Amino acid sequence: MSNPIVLPDYSLPQSAVPIVHPAELDPMEKVRLRDEIKALLKARNAVLIAHYYVEADVQDLAEETGGCVADSLEMARFGRDHAADTLVVAGVRFMGETAKILSPDKRVVMATIEAECSLDLSCPPDAFEAFCKAHPERKVVVYANTSAQVKAMADWVVTSSVALPIVERLHAAGEKILWAPDRHLGHYIQSQTGADMLLWSGACVVHEEFKAKALFDLKALYPDAGVLVHPESPAAVIAIADAVGSTSQIIRAAAELPHRLFIVATDRGLFHKLRQRNPDKRFIEAPTAGDGATCRSCAHCPWMAMNELRQLAETLRDEAGMAANEIHVDAETSRRAMVPLKRMLDFRP
Ligand code: 13P
Ligand code: SF4
Repeated sequence: MSNPIVLPDYSLPQSAVPIVHPAELDPMEKVRLRDEIKALLKARNAVLIAHYYVEADVQDLAEETGGCVADSLEMARFGRDHAADTLVVAGVRFMGETAKILSPDKRVVMATIEAECSLDLSCPPDAFEAFCKAHPERKVVVYANTSAQVKAMADWVVTSSVALPIVERLHAAGEKILWAPDRHLGHYIQSQTGADMLLWSGACVVHEEFKAKALFDLKALYPDAGVLVHPESPAAVIAIADAVGSTSQIIRAAAELPHRLFIVATDRGLFHKLRQRNPDKRFIEAPTAGDGATCRSCAHCPWMAMNELRQLAETLRDEAGMAANEIHVDAETSRRAMVPLKRMLDFRP
């Protein structure tokens, strides 16, 4: 019989969130940097894989150079299947680690190795290992926003695109689940599936700051607006949503729903793609301040904001920049993390 352990709150305090001010570039400097990065990608037989939350110029550059802009699941697949020698990841570190695990023979560099994720930081491998050991009867399901070491302890890795059907399948098979690290996403999946889920106590510092009361007031001002919410947001915010889903699922919902105006509770980086795909619709940010603003980086992930054109050029310019921002995952961790990652990639709902 296992001893239950009392789980402390592992979420990162707002005081630990970096404040990032992306540099304002003049148009000439932008053109010069974009041309330089294009030439460097070509010379290195490298492909740029960007997340929807990074700045618009980096997203556009990824698409113009044959790379991709995608959610975390599609980024992983794209890198694995691409023939380039080097994958350049504009996103956060767990995305680079996933790319490296899936493509051990490719060189994987981040636009900047400094780009963390508060969910990854809120799940230290040693504490997580103790939690798993205390509950050996449960299937360990971890969100992709975790370190390679945490993934190596899991039975399943999931992203927000596939978490629901995977947990549904496990629940139908009679499995009990140990879930980490995002308590809000975990709570949402639990409420939708009825699965028995023991939740770790991490949170995303960006999504946790959306405020239900202020969203409700905004919705009263725009009664015809649709509300789109990423499931890393608190339950009271999710309760107001017309559609809940991953970044790519939000993009799809914006195109499919009949509303002309949307209030969107996710990182504002996504607005670039939302506006490109729906030029006839309007998008406004869900409120993060309400009556008591607490966020340090409201509605924009500070680590995603580090993925700037200038930084990307510096990384690619010479071997020192490449080496300083390269992702390494040791062979044994990689071998073990590959098992739950492959299960996710092979999963068919
Ligand atoms: P997606 O899997 O929806 O792209 O989300 C990744 C993420 O970090 C959201 O905050
Ligand atoms: Fe992590 Fe939140 Fe940033 Fe996504 S938005 S990378 S979950 S800190």
